[in-house]
Amino acid sequence: MVRLCRKSLKRRGRLFFDDSATFLLWTSAEIGYNHKGCISVRPVTRTGRKEVNELNWYYFSGTGNSLHLARQLAASLGGRTFSMAEELRKNTVSCETEVLGLAFPLYYGGLPEMVERFARTVDLSKVRYVVAVVTKGGSPGGLALEQLRRIFKSRGKQLNAGFYILMPANYIALYDAPSEERQQKLLRRGEAKVQEVAVAARAKLDYCEKEALLPGLLWRIIYRFWRIRRPKKSRLFRVDSSRCVSCGVCVRLCPSGIISLQEGEPVWKDGCQECMACIQGCPHQAIQRGTKTESRRRYRHPLVTLEDLFVDGRDR
Ligand SMILES: Cc1cc2nc3c(=O)[nH]c(=O)nc-3n(C[C@H](O)[C@H](O)[C@H](O)COP(=O)(O)O)c2cc1C
Ligand code: SF4
Ligand code: SF4
Repeated sequence: MVRLCRKSLKRRGRLFFDDSATFLLWTSAEIGYNHKGCISVRPVTRTGRKEVNELNWYYFSGTGNSLHLARQLAASLGGRTFSMAEELRKNTVSCETEVLGLAFPLYYGGLPEMVERFARTVDLSKVRYVVAVVTKGGSPGGLALEQLRRIFKSRGKQLNAGFYILMPANYIALYDAPSEERQQKLLRRGEAKVQEVAVAARAKLDYCEKEALLPGLLWRIIYRFWRIRRPKKSRLFRVDSSRCVSCGVCVRLCPSGIISLQEGEPVWKDGCQECMACIQGCPHQAIQRGTKTESRRRYRHPLVTLEDLFVDGRDR
């Protein structure tokens, strides 16, 4: 980090001021004021407007699709990613930036319970623009963006932009993962679409994708039914003792914190999000649900590691 006073900066090159004038972008450097009032300069590899510290992305993700896209967006817009599950374990959840980004999967056409809880509790006092990315496995739309819009409206804020992105489907309890070839195709398309989201968010566009090709009422019934039964779905998991090596990975993956090891084997309490992180993530395929999951392929986004999905407060 090079330190320069304002006078020498004026002599040395072209400066661009951003809207808030807190940060400046120099042709090849990030420039900000340090605590002594001097200007600090750090070389940067990309060009474009300086957006760091302006945007936080919060994600909820069982198998990495939403986490990966949140990281992509944070990398292209400048910002940081935070796990909603970890944030909700704190006493207060506050977003310190003007732009709030959310990335999460579509569940039964609607919001995961944890995402709803996050949207209802996060402190929005500094937030001026909200953008949401919903990853989904193939159903034609849903209610998630509408549900979010209503929650933010009830809190005096607007959901400014919302997008659905098709990614590999991960609901192993109901179906097998797509073939490798299909996964690659979906991932490539997802990468392309996320660039469109980045453009919209950078320009702070007001735009929400249309949704709910199924009649809204039908989605509402399906979603309500699932929400009522969801907490007890953890009772459907079982462990295959011959495969379990007591590594504790499933405990660290669970966003609800409802798995514990007893006599070396996982035991589930009620309160499941149905994220599939435990069954998909067990390195020994020792977790099953029902009779069909044994033969089904496990899925995790190829660029997301198990450690990335751990809910233990590490920096990602
Ligand atoms: C409980 C559950 C319900 C799901 N419901 C839907 C759905 O209604 N429509 C859909 O297109 N995909 C659905 N999916 C698939 C996920 O939304 C999709 O695979 C998502 O990208 C997973 O994101 P993640 O890897 O960040 O967890 C569902 C998955 C789960 C686990
Ligand atoms: S992740 Fe799998 S092997 Fe490890 S403790 Fe859990 S069930 Fe056992
Ligand atoms: S028990 Fe499994 S599916 Fe349920 S919330 Fe925990 S990790 Fe997700």
